[in-house]
Amino acid sequence: MKTKSVPRRPAGATTRATALDRAREPRAPSDPVSIRRVRHGDLDQIIAIDATVTGLEKRNYWKSVYRRYGVAGPAERQFLVADATGRVVGFVIGEVRDWEFGSPPCGWVFGIDVEPGSRLAGIGARLLEAICASFTRAGVRKVRTMLSRDNKLILSFFRSQGMMAGPFIPLEMDLDA
Ligand SMILES: CC(C)(COP(=O)(O)OP(=O)(O)OC[C@H]1O[C@@H](n2cnc3c(N)ncnc32)[C@H](O)[C@@H]1OP(=O)(O)O)[C@@H](O)C(=O)NCCC(=O)NCCS
Repeated sequence: MKTKSVPRRPAGATTRATALDRAREPRAPSDPVSIRRVRHGDLDQIIAIDATVTGLEKRNYWKSVYRRYGVAGPAERQFLVADATGRVVGFVIGEVRDWEFGSPPCGWVFGIDVEPGSRLAGIGARLLEAICASFTRAGVRKVRTMLSRDNKLILSFFRSQGMMAGPFIPLEMDLDA
């Protein structure tokens, strides 16, 4: 996927005026924001952003995500943050996966969050653009993600960036205890 600075609206995508009831008007970021790789010192802020979004503090989970994706490793694994002059205001995590589900190698975005007070200023788009650029450098030409069908905000965001329904479908069933 090639992201660009002006988000594309695919045919049929809802526009922002009608897609969701926005909580507030867009605002410009008060601090310059740069996108960089995560550092260990960012973890507390990332845990706090995630807890704000999901309502759960998952410290052990985030430590393990940092070990797998954050410690400088293969270019295929990416954990990037949006840094507003020293304050982490968002993050994105993803990885290139080879041949799983019968799919040729492609990038997967596992998680993206921007703190509520910094939204609608283009930071989510920049995070996605940066991880897509890393996937491109890693040699893949496709990016995928998975989302809850109830999460209209994240759906509107990904659609605005040009992502469409793909050829794979999730299946699940309950397991006996
Ligand atoms: C989705 C999210 C990452 C977007 O971050 P953001 O920095 O506000 O996004 P941007 O400002 O780059 O917005 C890009 C586009 O997304 C769409 N969008 C973003 N927020 C939207 C909203 N509230 N309503 C409708 N469209 C929206 C718009 O098309 C927007 O472009 P526009 O402002 O030019 O219309 C952020 O809202 C977030 O973290 N939400 C919670 C994420 C979540 O649920 N994560 C868990 C699963 S991974």
